[in-house]
Amino acid sequence: MEMTGSTTVLSAEAVTAYHRDGYVLAPGRLPAVAMTRLSAAVPAILDEDSARRIMERDGVTVRSVYGPHLADQTVASLSRLTELAGAAMDLIGEPVYVHQSKVNVKAPFVGDQWQWHQDYIYWLQDDGIREPNLVNAAVFLDEVNEFNGPLTFVPGSHDQGVLAAVEKEGLPIGYEDAPQWVSTLTADEKYGVRHDVIERLVRSRGLVSPKGPAGSVLFFHPNILHASSQNISPFGRRTLILVYNGVSNPATNTENPRPEFLAARDTTPIAVGE
Ligand code: SIN
Ligand code: MN
Repeated sequence: MEMTGSTTVLSAEAVTAYHRDGYVLAPGRLPAVAMTRLSAAVPAILDEDSARRIMERDGVTVRSVYGPHLADQTVASLSRLTELAGAAMDLIGEPVYVHQSKVNVKAPFVGDQWQWHQDYIYWLQDDGIREPNLVNAAVFLDEVNEFNGPLTFVPGSHDQGVLAAVEKEGLPIGYEDAPQWVSTLTADEKYGVRHDVIERLVRSRGLVSPKGPAGSVLFFHPNILHASSQNISPFGRRTLILVYNGVSNPATNTENPRPEFLAARDTTPIAVGE
């Protein structure tokens, strides 16, 4: 992708690494005051019993809460931080809005896996977003280490475009009574990638699991092939993911749109830092 705007937040090296590898772990951490506020807001976000909350298969452990930037003022203002929205503009090359957000909990001992997938196919198929010109900003709420189920990438795999995907029919076991859009959010990916395709890419490109302390920010491309394993450790691995999209690339599916908390219709550009 060609950059149209000038780099303002991330270094030129970081922007180059992102476009080459499909991810970049930003140097440094978010400001301590922002992290303190965010950590204080998270328990109430996880406690709220709403349609935006997805449980693990055990039915009692929170897996994810979607749309916290719509429901919580702390997350809303965090999403406008220069270190996040400004950096996203550097990577996307135009003004951005938040298409989707989520807190992924990955609870100690019981937090389940995320199967191999790419993100963009959901935003293309389900939301009608025409270009993969979005970026995930994953804010580590806890330290991410090799034991608590870090995100694992095939570096550079975003250059493959949308890979051969296997669309699963119906809803996964345990979620049979849920609305259809839930099938996009569980441990069983709706658009899985074939094992032979994954193997070919991993053998040539390798695997990487970026790790870091709480407050780190990991940017990754919507077409990078990624997964994460179960959390076998006693350490939490809560992550806030903000999905920024370029304002010229809105959702176009008006036939059967997913709820606003999964697919924003409001594409007002973020006033960075306000
Ligand atoms: C994870 O939180 O480990 C997975 C997130 C994602 O697939 O986007
Ligand atoms: Mn993903």
